[in-house]
Amino acid sequence: MSQEVARPEVVRLQAMRAAALAGGGEERTRAQHERGKLTARERLDLLLDPGSFQEMGTFVTHRCPDFGMAEKKFLGDGVVTGHGLVDGRPVFVFSQDFTVFGGSLSLANAERICRLMDLAMKVGAPIVGLNDSGGARIQEGVASLGGYAEIFLRNTLASGVVPQVSAIMGPCAGGAVYSPAITDFVAMVQGTSYMFVTGPGVVKTVTHEEVDAEALGGASVHGTRSGVAHFALPDDASCLALVRELLSYLPSNNIEDPPRVPTEDPPDRADPELDGLVPVDPAQPYDIKDVVRRVVDDGRFLEVHEGWARNLVVGFARLGGRSVGVVANQPAVLAGTLDIDASIKGARFVRFCDCFNVPLVTFEDVPGFLPGTAQEHGGIIRNGAKLLDAYCEATVPKLTVITRKAYGGAYDVMSSKHIRGDLNLAWPTAEIAVMGPRGAVEVIFKKEIAESPDPEATEARLVAEYREKFANPYTAAVRGYVDDVIEPSRTRARLIRFLETVRAKREATPPRKHGNLPL
Ligand code: HXC
Repeated sequence: MSQEVARPEVVRLQAMRAAALAGGGEERTRAQHERGKLTARERLDLLLDPGSFQEMGTFVTHRCPDFGMAEKKFLGDGVVTGHGLVDGRPVFVFSQDFTVFGGSLSLANAERICRLMDLAMKVGAPIVGLNDSGGARIQEGVASLGGYAEIFLRNTLASGVVPQVSAIMGPCAGGAVYSPAITDFVAMVQGTSYMFVTGPGVVKTVTHEEVDAEALGGASVHGTRSGVAHFALPDDASCLALVRELLSYLPSNNIEDPPRVPTEDPPDRADPELDGLVPVDPAQPYDIKDVVRRVVDDGRFLEVHEGWARNLVVGFARLGGRSVGVVANQPAVLAGTLDIDASIKGARFVRFCDCFNVPLVTFEDVPGFLPGTAQEHGGIIRNGAKLLDAYCEATVPKLTVITRKAYGGAYDVMSSKHIRGDLNLAWPTAEIAVMGPRGAVEVIFKKEIAESPDPEATEARLVAEYREKFANPYTAAVRGYVDDVIEPSRTRARLIRFLETVRAKREATPPRKHGNLPL
């Protein structure tokens, strides 16, 4: 019997593949692990369905002749690119390999990332970038900068065509931050990732501020203060699990609908707890997330931007197995007022949902825009307009539940019927008016109160009268601005019925190149 001998070509291929799999080698891999980070390929294993990753560009190396680089070559050159499956659906991925030249971007790397982005757009599949890079490959100079620009262009062209998700799992500095910034969602790993335009050294030289990388651009800062990060996760594994969960709510592209996920949660489930959830005292806070979780399928709510602008809650859930984007004023933070950050947060989320056929469900309890010089001088007019514009423009099904206050301009903004809202339900506790009773009475009965023998009693009487007349849902319901006043316990059933009915909704907007969103 003749002994099988592998052909030399196959031996060579296997040796090259093994070299590619080794990345920057054992020592650098150990250093990566010691920092608490996984390697580029370990991350892909966790992100994608087991065994589904198909690599493209395995044998690519850089073409830089300078600074002794001709002798320093690694297969793959610092990024692993290809496609795989998440819950059985295709995604295109790149995973920067910090063990090779610090994951820095060579022209050859940029070309491969661009090719997969082009392909993702043609086939209509999401793009996921796992970022862990020292930025532009210094040895390649302007060629690398050009590579970044090619990626930025594609991020922009892919926006609204396929979902784009960025996980930041190491350094992401300089102009390189602008690729994730254009994508739809940024998830950062706490303690091991950071994003900044200029690092601590430059900051010290220019502004004399002493700050380390974590305090300047770590996950906590971007998840709570700047709003750059939509998610902050404790480690690589939880970050990649989050990306998988996020994708489960989204369609693969702007032509498809999000996937339906069967649920055991009955569509007509009533929740009696909701009937008593809003406090009797209108000044008393409650947590709107309790309402959201009680209404949606299986109590599951994936909150986006959880730590930033907490006076507005946004995120994904399902109703009757179908994805919805939830936008909810949070009475437990700043009394649920809309400020600059909340307006920006809401606008971005509403626009994302509208791009990708995710119906919007708005829970409204808003006393108005936040007053004060900080807000006015900071541009609450310009920024509040973003949320208004986003809701006006959105043509996905728009459902609103007014749980309590719907005051002033905020009533108009929060998906009212006047701006193409499709269904507007109110709970019996709803108060729909130009402003709150006390403020209103002080304006319109100023003289009467001042001249009365007992101003306090007069004001109390007028407030009660105003409340009786306006601080209820019926004045709006009589005009048809509210479609129905419902028992809170029936909210889930009503929303699901309506969503099923309007699923095929299509609404046109006048032809134009694009609107001029108040940026
Ligand atoms: C080439 C790089 C590199 C880069 C890191 N390396 N960054 N090689 N180009 N940009 C290499 C290092 O030489 C080293 O190689 C290996 O990667 C690991 O780097 P270390 O410095 O040892 O790691 P660490 O101490 O963890 O520091 C990581 C780091 C640091 C903070 C990212 O490397 C760093 O500051 N790099 C430069 C960052 C930068 O200024 N980039 C340009 C930003 S401007 P060896 O062989 O020793 O292992 C930019 C413009 C984008 O990106 C354009 C868009 C408009």
